[in-house]
Amino acid sequence: VSKELQAMYDAHELLRKFYHHLLVNTKEGQHALEYLLGRGFTRESIDKFQIGYSLNSWDFVYKFLAKRDFLPEWMEKAGLIIKRERDGTYFDRFRDRIMFPIFDRHGNTIAFSGRSLGLDEPKYLNSPETAIFNKSKILYNYHLAKPSIKKMQHAILFEGFADCIAAQRSGVENGIATMGTSLTDEHISLLRQSSQSVTICYDSDKAGIEAAFRAGNHLNDAGFQIKIAMMSDGMDPDEYIKKNGPEKFRNEVLGASLTWMAFKFLYFRRGKNLQIEGERLAYIEVIIKEISKLTKAVEKDHYLRQLAAEFSLSLDALNQQQKQIFFAEK
Ligand code: UTP
Ligand code: MN
Ligand code: MN
Ligand code: MN
Ligand code: MN
Repeated sequence: VSKELQAMYDAHELLRKFYHHLLVNTKEGQHALEYLLGRGFTRESIDKFQIGYSLNSWDFVYKFLAKRDFLPEWMEKAGLIIKRERDGTYFDRFRDRIMFPIFDRHGNTIAFSGRSLGLDEPKYLNSPETAIFNKSKILYNYHLAKPSIKKMQHAILFEGFADCIAAQRSGVENGIATMGTSLTDEHISLLRQSSQSVTICYDSDKAGIEAAFRAGNHLNDAGFQIKIAMMSDGMDPDEYIKKNGPEKFRNEVLGASLTWMAFKFLYFRRGKNLQIEGERLAYIEVIIKEISKLTKAVEKDHYLRQLAAEFSLSLDALNQQQKQIFFAEK
């Protein structure tokens, strides 16, 4: 690699260690540590994920790096400091935030995501895209989870860092997360190298359910086996674990994951009043369309029977309509 790239890697490595030190060993980091422990993070997970804290200073990192002969131009390109238009001086990108290092698949630190402690926006401030960091190619925790994913031939996909970390604390070693982007083709190719079976465990709020539907379709089209895990009351996995504990999470959330089809039955039903004839018929039609996309005859039969039973319809009629749709779309 070029000197510039090496300097970017080195600066991230150095800062990862320093941010972590600030969080766990210093008075300046104490409020951040208390915040994390209060949220249920443990000392072990803080170490394992190398979580840190960035000082409430405009130029601490700038000076820290300059003192060690890192060129400011390169550090700006690495996304660690920002240049002021007005006078060409630099200031730190991350200030007074909980720092989550982002690792590449080899374990190099290539970026950070900084969570605000209060109500500062954005909640998570990410490194920009750089020569060493491309959000749409990175799955959080993949470097640690990969051996388990391979061994279990299964991955759990989360929406957030906190969820991935809380799950790991609960004994889920095969968890990964996207970084606030939707699941890309690059993410899927990366994942495919270790397994083709995924449980999507996104937040159970409206945004999370929509995102799970999109990610599920994407993975399904890519030939993955999919399950969907959901929580009650719009919670996210981290909140659920804090409230109900690890066993319940493993048994009643992950253990009760829905099949992709069962999730779609629920998904298309949301916001519809099935007592109303028109809405009921529209729903049935959408579901028949989904069933017609299935490749296994036994599965088709299973879901058509389920639909017939629920709405007191004749299986013959459903079959006929399913076949019409199936051949119309060929
Ligand atoms: P959420 O809003 O669900 O956050 O965003 P969270 O993971 O539950 O975070 P906590 O529990 O409040 O700390 C899910 C993910 O979207 C990305 C982050 O990767 C986050 O983990 N995100 C969210 C951002 O990149 N920026 C934001 O401002 C918010
Ligand atoms: Mn440590
Ligand atoms: Mn969310
Ligand atoms: Mn969340
Ligand atoms: Mn959360």
